[in-house]
Amino acid sequence: MLLPVFSPKLTPNAILVGLITFSSVHARTATSEADEAQITDPVEECTAYYYAPVSNALDGFPTIWQPATILSNDTEAQSIWANISQSVPTNIYPHGDIYGDWNDTTYNVAEDPDCWWTRSLCTTPKLSSLPPDVASVPEPETMGYGFDDGPNCSHNAFYDYLLEQNQKATMFFIGSNVLDWPFEAQRAIDEGHEICAHTWSHHYMTGFSSEDAFAELYYSMKAIKLVLGVTPTCWRPPFGDVDDRIRAIAEGLGLQTIIWQYDSFDWEEQAGNITAAQVYANYDNFIARVENGTFDSEGSIMLTHELNNFTMQTAVTYYPKLKDAFKHLVPVGVALNKTQPYVETNYSLPTFEEYISGNTTTNSSSSTNSTSSGTSHSSSSSATLTHTINSPLLALISLAVLTLAF
Ligand SMILES: *[C@@H]1O[C@H](CO)[C@@H](O)[C@H](O)[C@H]1NC(C)=O
Ligand SMILES: *[C@@H]1O[C@H](CO)[C@@H](O)[C@H](O)[C@H]1NC(C)=O
Ligand SMILES: *[C@@H]1O[C@H](CO)[C@@H](O)[C@H](O)[C@H]1NC(C)=O
Ligand SMILES: *[C@@H]1O[C@H](CO)[C@@H](O)[C@H](O)[C@H]1NC(C)=O
Ligand SMILES: *[C@@H]1O[C@H](CO)[C@@H](O)[C@H](O)[C@H]1NC(C)=O
Ligand SMILES: *[C@@H]1O[C@H](CO)[C@@H](O)[C@H](O)[C@H]1NC(C)=O
Ligand SMILES: *[C@@H]1O[C@H](CO)[C@@H](O)[C@H](O)[C@H]1NC(C)=O
Ligand SMILES: *[C@@H]1O[C@H](CO)[C@@H](O)[C@H](O)[C@H]1NC(C)=O
Ligand SMILES: *[C@@H]1O[C@H](CO)[C@@H](O)[C@H](O)[C@H]1NC(C)=O
Ligand SMILES: *[C@@H]1O[C@H](CO)[C@@H](O)[C@H](O)[C@H]1NC(C)=O
Ligand SMILES: *[C@@H]1O[C@H](CO)[C@@H](O)[C@H](O)[C@H]1NC(C)=O
Ligand SMILES: *[C@@H]1O[C@H](CO)[C@@H](O)[C@H](O)[C@H]1NC(C)=O
Ligand SMILES: [Zn+2]
Repeated sequence: MLLPVFSPKLTPNAILVGLITFSSVHARTATSEADEAQITDPVEECTAYYYAPVSNALDGFPTIWQPATILSNDTEAQSIWANISQSVPTNIYPHGDIYGDWNDTTYNVAEDPDCWWTRSLCTTPKLSSLPPDVASVPEPETMGYGFDDGPNCSHNAFYDYLLEQNQKATMFFIGSNVLDWPFEAQRAIDEGHEICAHTWSHHYMTGFSSEDAFAELYYSMKAIKLVLGVTPTCWRPPFGDVDDRIRAIAEGLGLQTIIWQYDSFDWEEQAGNITAAQVYANYDNFIARVENGTFDSEGSIMLTHELNNFTMQTAVTYYPKLKDAFKHLVPVGVALNKTQPYVETNYSLPTFEEYISGNTTTNSSSSTNSTSSGTSHSSSSSATLTHTINSPLLALISLAVLTLAF
């Protein structure tokens, strides 16, 4: 979870123009995924860079970090929404606003008519057409290992550590971050992490109109498709803020809703709302539960973040302890034996059995590594990427998802 960002952020392009125009004192900018991956200074890692496939596609997206709406000329998104909207309940109204202000909201928590997780921790929809959320994992003494809010520009030390440990995780990526930091996003999938969506602008989903909630999910999927070449089939609501109306929209887009059972509250430390010691205590408590048998018949998921140095460093510090306590630490999709994590069928995850016997690698016949420079004299490989991810393909894929979903 991340505090909503209210101020518009500059796109990398805008920043690059600024750098070129005003200064040359800044750190060099990354030119490829491999180049970005070897930077060790966090400030340099977080220096905006230019990546042609994103720059060329920006006018097909809402403003980065701003609450999404369907672009007025995006007929593709409009027709997909027209389809999906037919199965979205109209008797569930937005709760409060997109900033999570529910002061004027009355809600019967005891009856919980909307299965509103934020108020009731409900994960079994009242609407019988919807599948339950994934809040735990079926494999005993197993942790569904994952991180929210990435890709973080300064994640190299963290990803280096995961690579050293041969540990894969589920990364819940924010669409705006994916477009801001495409090389970081590519590193994640190329190193075998599972990618799920975490909305376009990271606001409270139940506060959006249905159409805008659709746009938040749709454009985050489109950003992931643009940069990684794959369409995700899972998402996690920011702040866990989901109800049956939002679940129906996600279901229409082919997205499985992933929540959690325990919260490390690592994301609260930045704002000073919680101390580091309290976060460590939350990790310790989670570990104590493995040891006292809480997860003997079913594994669990704890909320942790790729948000800042504290959350990532805490993950590193606690990794050996989690690894010791749990029998298995695996991406959520692996714990579910979800071997096909994306709409595209040429990319697969190992089964749980394969993963725990040491085959942690994803099998992909497509190369999203694009070691090409992202500069305007773009190489053939980024041209290929641009072609494979064009909009009509996305429409086709989305319609295929619809066919399956209804
Ligand atoms: C949609 O409108 C934006 C400006 O609002 C423009 O930049 C973009 O090219 C348009 N897209 C299409 C597909 O016409
Ligand atoms: C979805 O839209 C397509 C065309 O855009 C249409 O053929 C199909 O019938 C629609 N499906 C539903 C369930 O409305
Ligand atoms: C909502 O209520 C809380 C607690 O009473 C108060 O601190 C906050 O300012 C209120 N928010 C708004 C937007 O009025
Ligand atoms: C952190 O505390 C501040 C001030 O008390 C409050 O405004 C803010 O909403 C809190 N943030 C979170 C994420 O709880
Ligand atoms: C296990 O440990 C946790 C954390 O200390 C505790 O809250 C829980 O009640 C314990 N459960 C059992 C079954 O002992
Ligand atoms: C990434 O983490 C750094 C701290 O290491 C923080 O300053 C930055 O805002 C984060 N960036 C993103 C995109 O989350
Ligand atoms: C956190 O910051 C410290 C100090 O700069 C650095 O040594 C460490 O590698 C960082 N940790 C992560 C996981 O980024
Ligand atoms: C995953 O597949 C293995 C066999 O490969 C099976 O033993 C296990 O029960 C499956 N787990 C789930 C959650 O489906
Ligand atoms: C690892 O798993 C992938 C995906 O199932 C498979 O393609 C590959 O052959 C396996 N490699 C080994 C060494 O077993
Ligand atoms: C990847 O996995 C799929 C499904 O498990 C399989 O059909 C395909 O042959 C595999 N491809 C490679 C290159 O291992
Ligand atoms: C993988 O599938 C996607 C979508 O169907 C396609 O664009 C891409 O070319 C495929 N990659 C390979 C190497 O077959
Ligand atoms: C992708 O990058 C990883 C390292 O990040 C490398 O090990 C792998 O060989 C690359 N794959 C392709 C197809 O280039
Ligand atoms: Zn989040």
